[in-house]
Amino acid sequence: MIAIAVLGHGVVGSGVAEVLEKSRGNICRKAGADLYIKKILDLREFPELSYSDKFTKDFNEILTDPEIQVVAEVMGGLNPAYDYVSAALSAGKSVVTSNKELVAAKGAELLALAKRMNRNFLFEASVGGGIPIIRPLHQCLAANEIDEIVGILNGTTNFILTKMIREGMSFTDALKMAQELGYAEKDPTADVEGQDTCRKICILASLAFGSHVYPESVQTQGITKITLEDVRYAESAGKVIKLLGQTRRVNGSCYVMVGPALIGRDSPLAGVEDVFNGILVRGDATGDVVFVGKGAGKLPTASAVVSDIIDCVKHKDTIATLHWSDAQSKVSDIRREVTARYIRCKGKGADSIAWQIFGSPTFLQRPDKPVDEFAFIAPAMTGFDFAQKLDALVGKGVEILGDIQVWEA
Ligand code: HSE
Repeated sequence: MIAIAVLGHGVVGSGVAEVLEKSRGNICRKAGADLYIKKILDLREFPELSYSDKFTKDFNEILTDPEIQVVAEVMGGLNPAYDYVSAALSAGKSVVTSNKELVAAKGAELLALAKRMNRNFLFEASVGGGIPIIRPLHQCLAANEIDEIVGILNGTTNFILTKMIREGMSFTDALKMAQELGYAEKDPTADVEGQDTCRKICILASLAFGSHVYPESVQTQGITKITLEDVRYAESAGKVIKLLGQTRRVNGSCYVMVGPALIGRDSPLAGVEDVFNGILVRGDATGDVVFVGKGAGKLPTASAVVSDIIDCVKHKDTIATLHWSDAQSKVSDIRREVTARYIRCKGKGADSIAWQIFGSPTFLQRPDKPVDEFAFIAPAMTGFDFAQKLDALVGKGVEILGDIQVWEA
């Protein structure tokens, strides 16, 4: 018998208990061992549950229990998760986690600790919910140099944008619905302001390029400024607005950014809707590989946590391919990147001013467009050049209402 402990009994933790109970026979067969949940750490009590006897409020009961070989941390947040995970690894237990904040901040350190202890620190559930992406990156795609990863990595914001695009629903109503469905973080700021996507793209960039990319080094923008007007203009250009995490290898460093982007309807990521996530990985041997699935929610995330538990049981020793160095990755200045941009602006004659400044922008339309509002796609240029031209536009009395990157696959 192999005993497991689960830290946290929120949305994901209760999902882990449910999956392990419902599919225990199948899971044990795949793990090649009889495994069961021995302890669940939570400050709350759940007397109504059939497994209420497993709950404890004392982490030491788990830490000092020699039968517990694998700890699943699904509490979220940095503290006390970091202390618990470090202590469990130091005590010779393997740890699996769904906690992207923890992995993005402390991944290199915890991987090194796991390696020193010859145990595993696995985090498939930290990116993409139920989509396998961590294991494919370090195992199935191991023969590739990864050149680029672009992903819709946050289910909540993708759900909100989909509701805005498909149903003309307001941002606020769509966010409320996402919270009711259990997709959003406790504080949805991390979803809508892009930090959640940032943590996830940092994890993928660290794994792909081999050294730690810290969220603080990444320019991050969320979707709170996206309006239904932007959605309609994008539509007239055959595009949809998505929140993207992007990373690319560039001479000795990497480019990483998070922000909304207009993407063509023919892009493989355009059809990724609702709570689904989509991740495009560009390998030098494979070309583009696209992963799509439910990126948030109880059972999809629990599925990834339980698959990591199975892996820990099957491979007690450290899995060598899952590793990156703690040297901080050099993140290049995104203003050097050459991209096209969408601009929405307001002002008498703003269209002809934009025409003079930007060369030959492509003007867009929407129903009920006010006569003094204009939206256009400016040709591709560096961020430095774009900022200068935008300043020139403002200098001529034009009010900028929106400014979004255009992403071409
Ligand atoms: N709040 C996250 C999301 C949960 O919406 O994607 C999964 O990480």
